[in-house]
Amino acid sequence: MPKMYVIGNWKMHGSKITNCRLIEGILSKLPILTKVDVAICPPFPYLQQTSDKLFRRPILLGAQDLSCAKEGAYTGEVSGDMLRDLKTRFVLVGHSERRAMHNESDQVVANKFAAALEADLIPVLCVGETLEQREAGHAEQVIAEQVSAVINAVGVEALSKGIIAYEPVWAIGSGKTATPLQAQHIHAFIRGLVREHNEAIGSDLSILYGGSVNADNAATLFGQPDINGGLIGGASLKADSFVSICLAAN
Ligand code: G3P
Repeated sequence: MPKMYVIGNWKMHGSKITNCRLIEGILSKLPILTKVDVAICPPFPYLQQTSDKLFRRPILLGAQDLSCAKEGAYTGEVSGDMLRDLKTRFVLVGHSERRAMHNESDQVVANKFAAALEADLIPVLCVGETLEQREAGHAEQVIAEQVSAVINAVGVEALSKGIIAYEPVWAIGSGKTATPLQAQHIHAFIRGLVREHNEAIGSDLSILYGGSVNADNAATLFGQPDINGGLIGGASLKADSFVSICLAAN
């Protein structure tokens, strides 16, 4: 049975003072949840602050990226071991904003997935198509290539130690959320792809939806049979909205 997750991706937002207010606001409003694991992914400079504030609290720590390398002459990079050192549990790999702005290929993303596993992190593999690819009828092909690159690199058993997040690029930050049926269709497609390699792993894989999730649409999205929670951007920066989304997943 897939686990439910709600993971907040703060992207490049925050400051020491606003982080403090946001985390305390979430913690003060979040009731005990029995069916969903919650995590937040601050920018790198705030991982230590967030780790300290989440110590022994019911929210886990995530990061937004990591280096493929374990250590060495990689200026500006952050390794999986460094993230683990700060009690990070999850790490996003292949977010569409990084694929686009940093030319991260499917192979680079697969290497990052492997590096995350090596550092005992839970990789969250972000996949999704652009509007142009969807309108050209290539959405499933693009997503199949993104998922297959990881399976080919690490194997389906290793994939089972991670999470997949479907984030249609055209829905990210746009307010144009995929309809529940659009999202469910792609989630079922992704699950089917993995089942082709291993039925049990495909059935148990957590597949999150991301792309303009908010307090109003979360419950309908999470009610779809193959949607196992959400990867939340803008709405994770508001305590009330993020808590409402976590409740919708519980
Ligand atoms: O990683 C989550 C993010 O890409 C979704 O952003 O603002 O559409 O929820 P947003």
